[in-house]
Amino acid sequence: MPSEPTDNSAQPQGDLYGVDVYNTQEVADELVYIDENVRPLDGEPKRVLITGSTAGAGQLAAAYLVKRGHTVVAHARNAQRAADVRRDLPGLEDVVIGDLRHLDETRALAERINALGVFDVIIHNAAEYGASGPEQLNANSLSPYLLTALVTPPQQLSYLSSNQQLGGGLRLDEIRSGGGISYPDSKLHMAIIAIAVARLRPESQANAVNPGWIPTWMALQDGPYSRDDLRAGYMTQVWLTEGVEPGSDITGEYLFHQEIETRVNDLVHDEDAQDQLLAAYVEQTGVTLS
Ligand SMILES: NC(=O)c1ccc[n+]([C@@H]2O[C@H](COP(=O)([O-])OP(=O)(O)OC[C@H]3O[C@@H](n4cnc5c(N)ncnc54)[C@H](OP(=O)(O)O)[C@@H]3O)[C@@H](O)[C@H]2O)c1
Repeated sequence: MPSEPTDNSAQPQGDLYGVDVYNTQEVADELVYIDENVRPLDGEPKRVLITGSTAGAGQLAAAYLVKRGHTVVAHARNAQRAADVRRDLPGLEDVVIGDLRHLDETRALAERINALGVFDVIIHNAAEYGASGPEQLNANSLSPYLLTALVTPPQQLSYLSSNQQLGGGLRLDEIRSGGGISYPDSKLHMAIIAIAVARLRPESQANAVNPGWIPTWMALQDGPYSRDDLRAGYMTQVWLTEGVEPGSDITGEYLFHQEIETRVNDLVHDEDAQDQLLAAYVEQTGVTLS
């Protein structure tokens, strides 16, 4: 098993849930709501991994699923953020560490995840916003691809996309050369990977999820903003994970608030575009998705 990067000196930052350090007040309030109100599921618990679960929508989904009685492994970029989420969500099974901006860390992360055994559900939630071009490519596009290809396939996968996929492009040359891509490009890539996985692994359930424009730390970077409902922004992932409500067995779709979204880039459901993107990933990483 690869060794876990450790920094035992890391102490949690700020107050519980890290308001003004890594979370907004809205996210912290929602974490309190979850802690006080969510009750265990009367059904079969799932084993779930959520990337980027130290803040925002990923942390909210993790908190909710823990309170429902599921087994949840969180993912943090470094030992400091792992210490933060261990303090914030004491019911986690474990926390795996790896900075998705660096593909060697992503490959090591995949080995660590596999060493923990098979998951029922993996939610590819982590994303950089406004990172430098190559880091945006690595964190938001190549890393979710690598994790999908290298980690033992779960029964269900969700990929966090965004309305901004509408303005994204394939950027095949940039992927092949390891150059820069934009955030909208990366959110298009997440959606394309999701629909391609549903096609290539018909035994699995895979969807893209747009959480909406929700008041997380990421959205704060744009300054004043209009808001969608924060709870609805993570409940689609929870609804899919639990798979007990009508319609939650859906696959191969781009979803917004538990419904199929119609405003989707034409490339998302285009099989040629999916194949071109996957071929560029293979050229860049040497890893094939099967
Ligand atoms: N907020 C919105 O309005 C909105 C709209 C559309 C789509 N989305 C999507 O929703 C998802 C969740 O975003 P959010 O709003 O919850 O953002 P957030 O509060 O900034 O949370 C992002 C999470 O991803 C982690 N992460 C980012 N880069 C990473 C890296 N290089 N390695 C490891 N972990 C990394 C962050 O870790 P740190 O805490 O250490 O930074 C954090 O846990 C993202 O995929 C985002 O693109 C958000």
